[in-house]
Amino acid sequence: MKTKHVIDLESLSISELMEIIELANDIMRDPGEYSQVCKGKILATLFYEPSTRTQMSFKTAMLRLGGSIIGFDNPQNSSVSKGESLKDTVTVVGGYADIIAIRHSLEGAAKAASLYSAAPVINAGDGGHLHPTQTLTDVVTLYNEKGTLDNMCIGLCGDLKNGRTVHSLIKTMSHFKGNRFVLISTPELSVPQYIKDIMNASGCRYTEMRGLAEAMPMLDVLYMTRIQRERFKSYEDYERQKGVFVLDREKMKLAKRDMKILHPLPRVDEISEDVDYDDRAKYFIQTVYGMYARMALIMKMLENDDRKPMPRQFDTHSTRCTNPNCITYTEEYLPKMFRHLGGDMLLCKYCDGRNLI
Ligand code: NCD
Repeated sequence: MKTKHVIDLESLSISELMEIIELANDIMRDPGEYSQVCKGKILATLFYEPSTRTQMSFKTAMLRLGGSIIGFDNPQNSSVSKGESLKDTVTVVGGYADIIAIRHSLEGAAKAASLYSAAPVINAGDGGHLHPTQTLTDVVTLYNEKGTLDNMCIGLCGDLKNGRTVHSLIKTMSHFKGNRFVLISTPELSVPQYIKDIMNASGCRYTEMRGLAEAMPMLDVLYMTRIQRERFKSYEDYERQKGVFVLDREKMKLAKRDMKILHPLPRVDEISEDVDYDDRAKYFIQTVYGMYARMALIMKMLENDDRKPMPRQFDTHSTRCTNPNCITYTEEYLPKMFRHLGGDMLLCKYCDGRNLI
């Protein structure tokens, strides 16, 4: 793999992505063959935000490859509670571990960590921004359950504004041939403009819909998501959005026979429990694919042995990102980095937020 860190799956070429999918499938076929390939290597999981699947599947992945694990799942038990900066934590852990998986509630946190870590960094979810290893999980699931990654009508339903798994999945699937998206949400929770720009730039068709039942008959895949309560300003705002979209047995009657239902989990109330017994429901097997996908990713990333010296100083821009959820807002020492979008628009390299010069 050319890239050292995996902050966004966009840094992987399609052929690198396909290699990871094939490797995940090989491991699945013969796990014993791979049970010692990471012997002597250490994965650090730095989870600043709650997680069940992502954290445990990363740990299980490393253990099943013969490696070891360190880390925290509650920053209050680490020096973060004493006020340690992300930079200092990562600089130190990057010296202990061979690879780091980080989850954080702020957008761009994994990118920030990658600036200071000698070890490769994997983004295990950064606020409402991206979740590349969930997307790897999703593509391994689709590849195995649909037999292709092309020419599909993919419905995404729920919190498309705050759902980082949605953003990462659209970005990746828009690189494959002939996919189109049906975006089912309330107007308040529709996908951010920068994701629409990505679909437009890649020539992918998309439609926004307000009802799940009307969308059902046209879908090859339905990606359900929960309403992300923790990203709302108030509980009242969340209450107004919850329970709007619920997939149940009645709606499943409208779906194609070979449609597949995916969900990154956790589920709250958006899929009724009786759908679990429909053979089109793939959200539990999806978690198993996710473990193999992470095993393949860890293996590929550890092939590079590029440990850069630390610490490094970076040039900083005079503009400050105006996204209050951007990591640069809180960790003020971080160098301000932007990409010029043309005109007077700057794109924050951490959170993808748009800023006027
Ligand atoms: C997702 C996440 O954390 O973004 N879960 C996961 O990693 N499997 C989805 C969610 O929390 O809703």
